[in-house]
Amino acid sequence: ITSVMQFDRGDLTYIFSVANEMRSMVRTVGATDLLKGYVLANLFYEPSTRTSSSFIAAMERLGGSVIPIHGVQYSSVSKGESLPDTIRTLECYADVIVLRHPEVGASEVAARYASKPVISAGDGVGEHPTQGLLDLYTIFSELGTVDGLHVALIGDLKNGRTVHSLARLLRLYETRLTFVSPDTLRLPGDVKGQLLDAGREVRECAAVEDIITDADVLYVTRVQKERFGDMRDYEAVKDCYTITTELMSRAKEHMALMHPLPRVGEIQYDVDADPRAAYFRQMENGMYIRMALLAAVLGKA
Ligand code: NCD
Repeated sequence: ITSVMQFDRGDLTYIFSVANEMRSMVRTVGATDLLKGYVLANLFYEPSTRTSSSFIAAMERLGGSVIPIHGVQYSSVSKGESLPDTIRTLECYADVIVLRHPEVGASEVAARYASKPVISAGDGVGEHPTQGLLDLYTIFSELGTVDGLHVALIGDLKNGRTVHSLARLLRLYETRLTFVSPDTLRLPGDVKGQLLDAGREVRECAAVEDIITDADVLYVTRVQKERFGDMRDYEAVKDCYTITTELMSRAKEHMALMHPLPRVGEIQYDVDADPRAAYFRQMENGMYIRMALLAAVLGKA
């Protein structure tokens, strides 16, 4: 799983139905032994809290076990080992590899060398396919449908890989999309082109106020500080959007406020009590989606 472009609507329906089963299984009995004896190598070359821990929890709740490689500075990567060699090493021990890497296309490279399934956990400013899946699953869970919705994606649309994956998935549904960002952080042309090719209605604007009363989904993202070469450019845009309770008072009664997290000021903490604030449910959904994906790539779903 290296890009959401590999999925069609049928695949998504299937993944979400398995995720639903995982959710009820976890809520009733907590764990199963479906993947007993299977090993996951969880290889992270970039920081992570939710993605890495939800993959670990997913594997363990399915009865499998995990080789966690988090601080690559403590592995042979720091001795100069190449990604293909690291992958070929891990697949000697593991049945599936989850990879987060700073370079766009790294998971494609890993998948080319590996004979075991590789799941991207984010490749630089490229994609974050499992996050896109859990985001779409969350829209379904919160609002019951995706067709017909007006989805607004807000923040660092240029560097935010979760935005690239979610936007590409949304092209498969009858959605209206508005991209809200400062001029320097607009959605990349290739993603926009894919949406237009799919017949989606795409608008771009600079102010949340323009869409707040009409959006069914507000998908807010962090300005990706680590992708800026010049910190002055980051300082100029870092506080561009803040969702407040005042702003939420103008939003639809039935809508979803989402964020892939971590947040660094884009959503004020007092918004958390709003029933439309879906970001904590969204991250819980991440575990069910990852359970479904692990079971599926290992032929056990
Ligand atoms: C995101 C990521 O790593 O791309 N985090 C996550 O996986 N939930 C978003 C971010 O870091 O801003």
